[in-house]
Amino acid sequence: MTTIRLLTCDDLFKFNNVNLDPLTETYGLPFYMQYMAHWPEYFQVAESPNGEIMGYIMGKSEGRADNWHGHVTALTVAPEYRRLGLAEKLMNILEDVSEKKMCYFVDLFVRVSNKVAVGMYEKLGYSVYRQVIEYYSGEVDEDAFDMRKALSRDVEKKSVIPIPHPVRPEELD
Ligand SMILES: CC(C)(COP(=O)(O)OP(=O)(O)OC[C@H]1O[C@@H](n2cnc3c(N)ncnc32)[C@H](O)[C@@H]1OP(=O)(O)O)[C@@H](O)C(=O)NCCC(=O)NCCS
Repeated sequence: MTTIRLLTCDDLFKFNNVNLDPLTETYGLPFYMQYMAHWPEYFQVAESPNGEIMGYIMGKSEGRADNWHGHVTALTVAPEYRRLGLAEKLMNILEDVSEKKMCYFVDLFVRVSNKVAVGMYEKLGYSVYRQVIEYYSGEVDEDAFDMRKALSRDVEKKSVIPIPHPVRPEELD
């Protein structure tokens, strides 16, 4: 049986199997610790019966006024545990937490080439709000889609009205 629970410090030394994925960013320990300290309820792991980390989600809430929103910083599932509905479950938890915090929407950034993730987010009700030029730096820079899903507080769904032209990272609010 899969257990979904809050991340603990020990888990940071156990999720290499998940982070080896090239589409999964690996950050320094202080970055993860900052999330654990500020937004513990947004850092959830899926654990297998033998104690292996199957996947995790890391996020936060931020912004002011009608820009108050939940944000998905990282979502990843180990290859051997994919297509079991784990990512969907973890996203549902993050959305529930954001609903309880009275957020207007949830947003995330995803590589435009990451068709699997973009398709999954669309299935979960997210749409492209705007394209961000060269958001990801590397050997070849890559654009991101900034995707959003309105929560129940945004009755008129204003937060998801798309911006039709691409923006540069420095223009992000
Ligand atoms: C994207 C990712 C998180 C999906 O995790 P997952 O646990 O396999 O996803 P789920 O099982 O919850 O899938 C939910 C839905 O997404 C879609 N989906 C997920 N993986 C898919 C695939 N390989 N091909 C087609 N559709 C897919 C399906 O519609 C699926 O529903 P279904 O199985 O009922 O058809 C996982 O592939 C991953 O970790 N990828 C690498 C890291 C990454 O890209 N993270 C997102 C960065 S923003």
